[in-house]
Amino acid sequence: MIQATSVVFDYSLSGAILAAAVLGHFGLWIWLYNRINASGFKRKTIKRTEKAFVLSCGLIPLGILLIELRFHGATSIIESGSFWAKLSVVTKSYSVIVILFAIAVAPFWILDRPQFAISKNRFELMESEDLSQLQHPESNAALYIQGSGFRRMAKLPGNQIVSMQRNRKRLLIDSLPDDLDGLRIAHLSDVHLTGQLSTSFYRLAIDWLSDQSPDLIVISGDIVDYESALQQIQPVFDGLSAPLGTYFILGNHEKRLPVPTDVCDEFCAMNWTDLGVSNAIARKGNTVIQLMGNELPWFQRHPTRSEAEPAIETHERAWRLGVSHSPDQFAWGIANRCKLLLCGHTHGGQIRFPVIGPVLVPSRYGARYASGVFSKGETLMHVSRGISGVHPYRWGCMPEASILELAARG
Ligand SMILES: [Fe+2]
Repeated sequence: MIQATSVVFDYSLSGAILAAAVLGHFGLWIWLYNRINASGFKRKTIKRTEKAFVLSCGLIPLGILLIELRFHGATSIIESGSFWAKLSVVTKSYSVIVILFAIAVAPFWILDRPQFAISKNRFELMESEDLSQLQHPESNAALYIQGSGFRRMAKLPGNQIVSMQRNRKRLLIDSLPDDLDGLRIAHLSDVHLTGQLSTSFYRLAIDWLSDQSPDLIVISGDIVDYESALQQIQPVFDGLSAPLGTYFILGNHEKRLPVPTDVCDEFCAMNWTDLGVSNAIARKGNTVIQLMGNELPWFQRHPTRSEAEPAIETHERAWRLGVSHSPDQFAWGIANRCKLLLCGHTHGGQIRFPVIGPVLVPSRYGARYASGVFSKGETLMHVSRGISGVHPYRWGCMPEASILELAARG
């Protein structure tokens, strides 16, 4: 009896160690994958490193399995109560490394879940609906997809690539000037014109935003992926205007273009303002709004933009609105005393699991800023899930177009 209990205990202990090692293994490679995609390395370097990480994640467990089978055989390991003790030094060493890694990052990983990281007391969701369902409930794929890759993937159950959520959020801002109370900002991000989706898909968002009569419009990067898709800019954004101006920056995906500034030329020809090269000023009543763009770590087109130093130039008393492609620049927004920072890049993680939420998020902070509203001090950051992407899948993570209404806090 005592011996049987001891065998069960040994099995349980070995099983628990093995489970922790499996968790640590995937945790380590996902952690690395997220960070490399947040870096400013050349795109080719990032993609090669990313492939190496994915291969390592798959091949290491396979290699370990082959080593153990070669030296012990499956039955020999399982027959022993404490199979952990019989494993090779290589397996044990790797397991200890990944288990220690898991123990070190687990508290941060838990705290970075959306339910803990989002500043729920700094915004109200006023309206939220799936525009594509409202207009064409059954035939989204036929209407909105041009590319065969996207069409195949769209058939997978629950894939939301041709959904489009419209949402209106009231953001509660500290010390908001009376002139800006009720200001409506249209925030679009990660448009990703690739030729895979039709102009009518993007117009779902553009037409709705236009109908909302926003005071100003901002795109926070990743507008075009391929040179051939530059021609889609004009039909997609045609007619979108706002009394306080229309503004854009570039994102990491513009790095794929032979001449990234071709995108800027197209937008400037439509009277949009390029915040990647200079700050801009808009006025509402007696209040000056200073708009500042940040394309780090991918572009540094602005002469004084730097992650380390605040770039306060003129208009010391202006109300500052920052636009950054990556939410990793939150500290920059705070240092520059931006009251609001608009970001994208992370696509909300593209896949959100029940309870744990997003896992693969290209940010040095992992899933913390995947999407939503975040605050630190007087700076509020809105991270959009974007309206498209190059990967033809989204689960639990609908594309979104947002109207942000400013309201005074307290
Ligand atoms: Fe993107």
